[in-house]
Amino acid sequence: MEKNNLNIITAERIYLKNVSLESADDMYEYCSDESVVKFLTFDRHKNINDTINAIKEYFLKDPIGKYGIYLNSNNKLIGTIDIRLDSLDYNNFGWVINKKYQKNGYCSEALSAMLKSWWSKIKSLDLYAKHDIENKDSEHFMDNNNFIKLNKKTLNDEGITYCVHKLNIENIEAKIFKK
Ligand SMILES: CC(C)(COP(=O)(O)OP(=O)(O)OC[C@H]1O[C@@H](n2cnc3c(N)ncnc32)[C@H](O)[C@@H]1OP(=O)(O)O)[C@@H](O)C(=O)NCCC(=O)NCCS
Repeated sequence: MEKNNLNIITAERIYLKNVSLESADDMYEYCSDESVVKFLTFDRHKNINDTINAIKEYFLKDPIGKYGIYLNSNNKLIGTIDIRLDSLDYNNFGWVINKKYQKNGYCSEALSAMLKSWWSKIKSLDLYAKHDIENKDSEHFMDNNNFIKLNKKTLNDEGITYCVHKLNIENIEAKIFKK
């Protein structure tokens, strides 16, 4: 795999790049898992065609800021991470990791690498992430990754309450540029 490419963000154990159809099987592995997609904005993928359509519609039509998280060791796609600067809904970030690869620090490594790569564009912006109030794993991830919990909740049309966090841009520079 040639990683010396502007569209690829490299890190210690993982790299980030746009998702293509060759990753459909790896993505289906976790998008078909209800426990992983429970709090995401799409339904569990029932078959590989659901995944192929999702890659075409979400990742290929408008790939800016949307990355697959790939293991350096074997080029396997283990999740995705997004940065969306145009969101008006306190929803500038998204992340998901295959259950088998959670609790290994891969998503934190991906977030740091993505923020570092986007630093010149984001350093003067207010950026937010939100989670379903029942999504404790995502809340924990935000607490561990330089997001500050705001005293702010939003409610969507389906009656789901979200808790809003703000990226602590003042604190994060030292962390992401530490190496
Ligand atoms: C949210 C989500 C991406 C977090 O994944 P995660 O694997 O827990 O997060 P990280 O990659 O940051 O891993 C951190 C954990 O790995 C541990 N870890 C183990 N080895 C590590 C290493 N070498 N380096 C760093 N951390 C390591 C850390 O101690 C930490 O554990 P802790 O939470 O018990 O303190 C995951 O729960 C997920 O995909 N959820 C489903 C999708 C979802 O709901 N998305 C969010 C919608 S708002």
